[in-house]
Amino acid sequence: MAIPLIELGNGQTIPQIGLGLWQVKDSAQFDQAFTAAVAAGYRHFDSAQAYQNEAMLGAAWQRQNLERADIFITTKIAVEQFGHNRTTKSFGASLTNLQTDYVDLLLLHFPVPVVRKASWRALEEIQAAGGARSIGVSNYTINHLESMKNYARVMPAVNQVELHVFLQQPELIDYCQANGIVVEAYSPLAHGKNMADAIVTKLAQKYQKSYAQIMLRWCLERGLVVLPKSVTPSRIQANIDIFDFQLPAEDMAALAERDQDLRTCWSPVHVP
Ligand SMILES: NC(=O)c1ccc[n+]([C@@H]2O[C@H](COP(=O)([O-])OP(=O)(O)OC[C@H]3O[C@@H](n4cnc5c(N)ncnc54)[C@H](OP(=O)(O)O)[C@@H]3O)[C@@H](O)[C@H]2O)c1
Repeated sequence: MAIPLIELGNGQTIPQIGLGLWQVKDSAQFDQAFTAAVAAGYRHFDSAQAYQNEAMLGAAWQRQNLERADIFITTKIAVEQFGHNRTTKSFGASLTNLQTDYVDLLLLHFPVPVVRKASWRALEEIQAAGGARSIGVSNYTINHLESMKNYARVMPAVNQVELHVFLQQPELIDYCQANGIVVEAYSPLAHGKNMADAIVTKLAQKYQKSYAQIMLRWCLERGLVVLPKSVTPSRIQANIDIFDFQLPAEDMAALAERDQDLRTCWSPVHVP
């Protein structure tokens, strides 16, 4: 089944599902996961400087004989590489690691106070020079995005944040969608920390889908790009088999009740 493409504000497109690569650090495990993902139809890969696997991704896509234009690569500037010069320099190393001369999407990994402005300017320059097709941010709240209107020449195409049935953030999704920012859901399976909710289980039975597939489908119904991580080939396959059913309004309403502000990763909420 063809994976839907979502159009970004700058006219580029992004596949609606991507393989999450956080905590995939072992190269044999990486290769197995990457091979399974390509066979299952994934063409979008979500890496980061901090994941220490950009070089594995670079080697893996080359080995599969994929055309560069056929895959979508995201990387992120690590918090310790913020500041204009560090961001620019570290991105050069990322391109070398990824064995490419551009990334499809380059994100600032976290709203690091003060220096995130200079890093954003570096991303704008990288994009203007052709090093990144699109630029965006991650873990930004509405306040962080609003203040960008005062200093950004280019507004972010994407905001990648933690989003799942148990952390629904409707105000942030509405704000981004109203401002032309595509939202990516990271940890869409809540990092595997709540796999026994009664409502999700009931919907899985109703649709003859797995618990994880209901979690992921919720993201699609909200119009999000979804980034499940797995190193298990059968799960990698199952996680992309979510485009052949829908959750109607009544089921989405039942799932809305499951929101419980469950953060499984870092929180940007109190970052000035
Ligand atoms: N920008 C950021 O700050 C940020 C932060 C966190 C995550 N992310 C991105 O989002 C991606 C996904 O988030 P995540 O890695 O935190 O967690 P996740 O995708 O929510 O959950 C991953 C966990 O669920 C398990 N799993 C995967 N598919 C499953 C299935 N079908 N059934 C049952 N269990 C399943 C995985 O196990 P196995 O691997 O053993 O199969 C793993 O333990 C990351 O890899 C990364 O690319 C970004």
